Amino acid sequence: MFRTRPTTRREAGRVATVADPQREEVRRWIDEARRIVVLTGAGISTDSGIPDFRGPQGVWTRNPAAEKAANLQTFLSDPEARRASWRYRLEAPTRSAKPNAGHRALVVLQRRGKLDTLITQNVDGLHQRAGSRKLVELHGNIGRVKCSREDTLVERWEAPAGEVPRCAHCGAPLRPDVVWFEEMLPEHAVAAAEDAVRRCDVLLVVGTSAEVYPAAALPVHAQRSGAIVVEINPNTTALSAAADHVLRGAAGVVLPALVAALD
Ligand code: APR
Repeated sequence: MFRTRPTTRREAGRVATVADPQREEVRRWIDEARRIVVLTGAGISTDSGIPDFRGPQGVWTRNPAAEKAANLQTFLSDPEARRASWRYRLEAPTRSAKPNAGHRALVVLQRRGKLDTLITQNVDGLHQRAGSRKLVELHGNIGRVKCSREDTLVERWEAPAGEVPRCAHCGAPLRPDVVWFEEMLPEHAVAAAEDAVRRCDVLLVVGTSAEVYPAAALPVHAQRSGAIVVEINPNTTALSAAADHVLRGAAGVVLPALVAALD
């Protein structure tokens, strides 16, 4: 039923653009697949006005110091870093951003019963807002807030403007419910993601530089279990050479085209 993975790395490294006839082959794989899993990164949200991290206009590209500060130790030890973190959360483009055609195409795949699991590294909540349901959030969600000491989620809080709210129970600063560097990912999320990629026929890897682990290991787990891995990204990444197919294009263009072409 399913085309065996290419036997040579060269063949595996074929790069197809959206218009390329090899997209037809990817479409056929998707059409025939019983279980499709999708792994997304920040790149699927750039069309919604949310910059990625390592792309040419990425958040870390433009401000390497911000990447170093994105950890719990800095948040707890530096009051200005805490205030900056809260300012970002309140002012971030994520609050007003809307899902784009790439997010919506994944909902169509879900509604057609083709999508087994959507695994995202993104914390912007756009997949939920688009209507995705079978979602695994590996790095949390900036829309949720928790106590930085007790890890309990908090629904309501008060704080003077510009100040960081504190936990009503223990007084520790409140923080966004996202995974910072050097922090453990939620065990249940990692387990669900690894289980999904080991069961799937096709793994679509959309809009990620494939540089941050453990998410970057998921395509390897999928291929070892016999799945076909297709990368959708306008740029070359750490995954490109190992992917079975690379569709060089923006998620907001490639995904709708793939979904529209399904029988
Ligand atoms: N469509 C598809 N891919 C895109 C698009 C687009 N419209 N725009 C950018 N990209 C690609 C870039 O080429 C890049 O390869 O998306 C990728 C984004 O890579 P990163 O900025 O590294 O984001 P991501 O891979 O999600 O980062 C993983 O690192 O900083 C941490 O926790 C953060 O979840 C994040 C993790």
